Amino acid sequence: MSLMKSATRTAEKVSGNAEPGRPVLSVRNLRKHFVRSNGAKVPAVDGVSLDVAAGECLVLLGPSGCGKTTLLRSIAGLEHPDSGEILIEGRRVYSSEARVDRPPQQRSLSMVFQSYALWPNMSIFDNIAYPLRQRGVARGEVRSEVERICSLVGIGEVVSAYPNHISGGQQQRVALARALVSGDSLVLFDEPLSNVDAKVRKDLRVELTALQSKFGFAAVYVTHDQEEAMELGHRIAVLERGTVAQLADPRTLYSLPVSHYVATFVGSANELEGQVESVTPDGAVISTPLGKVVAGRAGLDVEAGSTAVAVFRPERARVVAEQPTGPNAWPVTYRSEMFSGNHAEHVVTRDHVIYRVWSDGVSAPPAPASEAWMCVDPADVHAFRPRSDANG
Ligand SMILES: Nc1ncnc2c1ncn2[C@@H]1O[C@H](COP(=O)(O)OP(=O)(O)O)[C@@H](O)[C@H]1O
Ligand SMILES: [Mg+2]
Repeated sequence: MSLMKSATRTAEKVSGNAEPGRPVLSVRNLRKHFVRSNGAKVPAVDGVSLDVAAGECLVLLGPSGCGKTTLLRSIAGLEHPDSGEILIEGRRVYSSEARVDRPPQQRSLSMVFQSYALWPNMSIFDNIAYPLRQRGVARGEVRSEVERICSLVGIGEVVSAYPNHISGGQQQRVALARALVSGDSLVLFDEPLSNVDAKVRKDLRVELTALQSKFGFAAVYVTHDQEEAMELGHRIAVLERGTVAQLADPRTLYSLPVSHYVATFVGSANELEGQVESVTPDGAVISTPLGKVVAGRAGLDVEAGSTAVAVFRPERARVVAEQPTGPNAWPVTYRSEMFSGNHAEHVVTRDHVIYRVWSDGVSAPPAPASEAWMCVDPADVHAFRPRSDANG
């Protein structure tokens, strides 16, 4: 969207423009509320701070209504926040204190939306050339730049077609190409792949990652799809009612979630709620309908006498026929196995509650309806204060 840049600004220049150590994007304590028609105040973005480095893809993940789009639109300058600060390449583009609020075209960023936002009466070539022509880039240079980008994103064959004659996946590639020719060091994505089918979505994710490492732009990528978040994000910010519940790399987020909300939104989880009997150096002992649960990883807000929820991943648990020794072994009824070659999901129940256990599927499962034991190492059990409610 920058009007100043030349079309020849290439990968090297984008990454070369980033000062080492300085984030491309900094958001400081940003707030934005809406007022509903009934007068209720909705804090859509409620004190968010984050940094995104050159070449980094930061994913904003969370359920519908948690504030992802409002945060992204505020960064883009399409929404006017209440307070806080936004810096792009060290330049203040929004500051409530300094009374700065630059329009989108002065923020050196591009956006790719869920709807492709292509001009239907322009060819693919012209759609992609548009930002370059707007900047007065010379004709020959426009052609070579558009062709270069089109072959990079795999739409070289369709440059002369019109948007409604190409597939959804191709249209999204065009939108991506248009963002890339701008040469902006920050690209914002709002659920860009949710309208393309599963196979194309997977391919485009791989390409997006490759293009990002080639061009070195910083990306903020909004999705409610945790698999997409894990695959694309160098880091993921899980949003909860306008706040950052946790910001971490995908592995940390998965193995060390900080709250019940994060643990259950990212990845599959078995959950057992109960009363905390005691908290010892070995973990919290929780009395649940399944029996005693020892949670080796207990949050600080888990105290004796309080209600807590124990959470463990299906791949950390095991189902065995004989009662094992040690803590965290509970009698269950074996229900069924879903075997998919390299993976098996075992369903067990107790008091009509379903628990899931994953294995590599190598050994034969217990017979359906037989009595079995589910067990998990205390070190793999997290305990949290139960989450209060969903986003609204
Ligand atoms: N223009 C608006 N007027 C009133 N409320 C809004 C408006 N835009 C968003 N909201 C509310 O702000 C919250 C966050 O919305 P949004 O940022 O769109 O969430 P997400 O993108 O995560 O689904 C929601 O409760 C939504 O209803
Ligand atoms: Mg949204």
